Amino acid sequence: MDKLKVGVIGVGSVVREIYQHLYYSSDFSDILDIVAVADPNDEYRNWFCDTYNIPADRRFTDHKEMLEKVDLDATQINTPDHIHAGPTIDSLEAGLDVVVPKPTAATVKDAHAMIETAKRTGRLMGIDFHKREDPRIKEAEARYQGGRYGEFQVGVWYMLDKLMVADPNHDPMFFATADFAEKNTPISFLTVHMADALMKIVNLTPVEVRATGYSHKLPSLNPIAVKGYDLADTEIRFKNGAAAHIITGWHLPNTAHATTVQSSRMVCSEGLLDLGLDTPGFYEMHAEGLFQVNPLFKNFEKDGTVTGYGISSPGRMYQKFLAAQKGELDGDIRASMMTPMELGFYTALVLEGAEASLDAGTEIADGVVAGVPIDLKDLVMRELGPEAVNTYGL
Ligand SMILES: NC(=O)c1ccc[n+]([C@@H]2O[C@H](COP(=O)([O-])OP(=O)(O)OC[C@H]3O[C@@H](n4cnc5c(N)ncnc54)[C@H](O)[C@@H]3O)[C@@H](O)[C@H]2O)c1
Repeated sequence: MDKLKVGVIGVGSVVREIYQHLYYSSDFSDILDIVAVADPNDEYRNWFCDTYNIPADRRFTDHKEMLEKVDLDATQINTPDHIHAGPTIDSLEAGLDVVVPKPTAATVKDAHAMIETAKRTGRLMGIDFHKREDPRIKEAEARYQGGRYGEFQVGVWYMLDKLMVADPNHDPMFFATADFAEKNTPISFLTVHMADALMKIVNLTPVEVRATGYSHKLPSLNPIAVKGYDLADTEIRFKNGAAAHIITGWHLPNTAHATTVQSSRMVCSEGLLDLGLDTPGFYEMHAEGLFQVNPLFKNFEKDGTVTGYGISSPGRMYQKFLAAQKGELDGDIRASMMTPMELGFYTALVLEGAEASLDAGTEIADGVVAGVPIDLKDLVMRELGPEAVNTYGL
C-alpha cells in the first residue's frame, strides 16, 4: 500500500483555498488518491469533480451513501463546524481514519463524541490546526516546554482579518455562503486558531472564559448588513492562574497589507516571547501598494508545487495514517496524536465557553456586549457529566 484512498466530504471554500493544493499539487499528493466526493451543493461538488475528473458514480450528495458504496481508507470532513461530528463518527465507525479542519466541533458534546468514537474504534483522527506546523509556533512550544521562560503568566494574541473575509457584499465572496459571518463569529473562526496555538505552547488547561463582543462595522454594511460581531476579546483563565486575551476580528479595511494581521506577546515568570507572526519577512511593493506575503503558510513554487504549513499540517496527518495502515506507526506517535489537547478538546471548550459568555452577556454600550464569566468545569459537568470532568482533568 503506497496511497490512501480518500473520500472528501464537503468541497467549499477551505478546499478551494487550501486542500485542493494538498490533494493535487503538494509533496503529499503522491500518497493521496481522491476517489470520491460528497457534498449536497451541486455547484461546489461539480466544480471540484469536473476540475479533478472524479467520475459521475463517485459523486455523492450524501456522505453515508459514499461510505457504503466506495472502498476508502480515510475521509476528510470539510463541512461547517456544526456538521463535523456526524460524518466524522460515521467514517470512524466505517473503519476509516479522519482529517477534520479546525475546530474539532462547535460544541464539547460533539468533540467528546468524536474523541470517544476514535478511541473505541481504534481509528486515528487528526484536527488540522495548521498553526501547529508553523515553525515559529513549534519552536516556541519546544523552548517554553524546555523551561526556558519559566511559568506563563499573561499573554495577548491578535488575529485580525480584512473586512472582505466577512463581507457578503464583496465580489467575489470569500466564503461559499452569504450568511457565513452570521453563522460564524470571530471566535469560532479565528479565536480557535490562536487559543489552540497558545495552549499547544504552554500545555495548560483552561478553567474559565469571559468574552466581550463588538458589533459596529458589520451591521453598517450595505446593501447586505450582517448581524454579527466585528471583534471579540476572549479572556481565558488557566489552571495555574495565568490569563490570556485573544483578540480577533474581521473588519480591518480591505486596504490592509495582509488578509490577516496577527501577533502575540506572552509574559512569563522568567522571560517573554514576542511571536512576530506579523512579520514573516517578505513584503512586496508594486503598482497597487505595499503588501505582506507569508511564504511560511502557502507558497506557490515555480514548478507548481504548493508548500507551506497550511499544506504540511494535514499532509503529515495523512503520512501518519498511511504508516498506521501499513502497521508502521510508532506507538508513542499514535498516543501523542490522540491526547485531548491534540484532538482539540480544550479549544472546543474555550469556543463554547466564549460563545455562552456572550449569549448570557449584557449590552453595556451601543453594539458592545460584555459577557459573563463561564466556569469551564461546570460547563463540562452540565454537558458531559462527572466522568468527562475527570477524563479532561478539569
Ligand atoms: N484550516 C483553516 O484555516 C480553515 C479555513 C477555512 C475554513 N476552515 C474550516 O473548514 C470547514 C469548512 O469551512 P468552509 O469555509 O469551507 O465552509 P463553506 O461553507 O465554504 O463550505 C462547506 C461545504 O460543506 C458542504 N456541506 C454542508 N453540509 C454537508 C454535508 N452534510 N455533507 C457534505 N458536505 C456538506 C457545503 O455544501 C459546502 O460546500 C469549517 O470547519 C471551517 O472552520 C478551516
